[in-house]
Amino acid sequence: MSAPKWQPSSWRAFPVQQQPDYQDPASLAAAEKTLADLPPLVFAGEIDALTQQLGNVAQGHGFLLQGGDCAESFSEFNANKIRDTFKLLMQMAIVLTFAGSCPVIKVGRMAGQYAKPRSSAEETQGDLTLPSYRGDIVNDINFTSDARKADPARLLAAYHQATATLNLLRAFAQGGFADLQQVHTWNQGFVAASPQGEKYQQLADQIDQALRFMAACGINPNNTPQLHETSLYTSHEALLLGYEQALTRQDSLSGHWYDCSAHMLWIGDRTRHPDHAHVEFLRGVKNPLGIKLGPTSDPAELNRLLEKLNPDNIPGRITLISRMGSQQVTEKLPALVRAVTNSGHAVVWSCDPMHGNTIKAHNGYKTRSVDAILQEMKGFFAVHQAEGTHAGGVHFEMTGQNVTECIGGAYQITEHNLADRYHTHCDPRLNGEQALELAFLIADTLKAARRS
Ligand code: PEP
Ligand code: CO
Repeated sequence: MSAPKWQPSSWRAFPVQQQPDYQDPASLAAAEKTLADLPPLVFAGEIDALTQQLGNVAQGHGFLLQGGDCAESFSEFNANKIRDTFKLLMQMAIVLTFAGSCPVIKVGRMAGQYAKPRSSAEETQGDLTLPSYRGDIVNDINFTSDARKADPARLLAAYHQATATLNLLRAFAQGGFADLQQVHTWNQGFVAASPQGEKYQQLADQIDQALRFMAACGINPNNTPQLHETSLYTSHEALLLGYEQALTRQDSLSGHWYDCSAHMLWIGDRTRHPDHAHVEFLRGVKNPLGIKLGPTSDPAELNRLLEKLNPDNIPGRITLISRMGSQQVTEKLPALVRAVTNSGHAVVWSCDPMHGNTIKAHNGYKTRSVDAILQEMKGFFAVHQAEGTHAGGVHFEMTGQNVTECIGGAYQITEHNLADRYHTHCDPRLNGEQALELAFLIADTLKAARRS
């Protein structure tokens, strides 16, 4: 039986979770109409290129590095922040590329990550109950009734901020910021400064030797553009479906539909019901898709999802992002991996070691420990090793800023330090040092996986 006809708006007839309650439908419709007339942010050819690269990963060649803010915000938007997260992704990528001896595909949670799913539609403080904050594309984080109103004008503000972010990312990717020698020099600075630096020194030295060897052979940025420029793709959770629909365009050459708000989109752990609106929307666009898989994921339901979202089994179309938590990954992940393997679906398996490891510190801050994050990653790699499948990627919430939101790491951030620089608009992020440390620490696991 073939699936019923799809249109960018067909999701509207399905049950839908996690959408804001807009008070003024006419101004919402007007904002969506304006968006639909604005230029696309990304283009079909770029999207297809990413699918193809992820297709290689699905077949065991390459690694996906995806990361950025939990929620991008309007107030913390500036060029330095974008630059620092870009830089950090490049620094992590060079370590992973060397360790895995394979291409690393870089995808930012950037230029569009503005909408947040919430576990509760309302928030109560004292005797006041207001709608929950749903990300800057919907409402404001301040706890007043005015701030928490869903405001359609924010759809346009988000679009324009995404445009400006992407413009800068494209310039960084093509300009000197992606230069391999430069990125390596930053990493040497990190290793020299880190209290745990001697652990990473050997790998940094090996990369140094490899770069010197290439230079001695005459391979340099002037004759080899790959040493100087890169591709950084964008991604976000496709949560706010009116926004995604408005940025969905039909390619005039192929007739295919693309969601041109980002290269890759993912479905959150709360919205992945196979018969609901988010899956209906995403089945019709040709972008590569992520699916978050938390501990409640069911193997049979996962296969139904794969049938709906990737009936032609195109490698690279689907990335399964496991986020089980350090305590549950070795117990819950194997059954899912086996079910997918037995179904014959080619997927990228990626590990989000963040969302299953959120805890509340004694002083009330939401945090995550670097140890739990590392433990979940190790569990993820061990499961794939045992199942004979390719551990194909990682997904981090991180920022190049020197925040204090996650505990642990070489600089030993404690619960006590959380108040110092806790700036996230949603979940706690790794800071630059913590994220880079994790890249060095998983390098060994990647090397071992390569050897086997
Ligand atoms: C997220 O990635 O920020 C998120 C909300 O994840 P999940 O859907 O896995 O909870
Ligand atoms: Co998050």
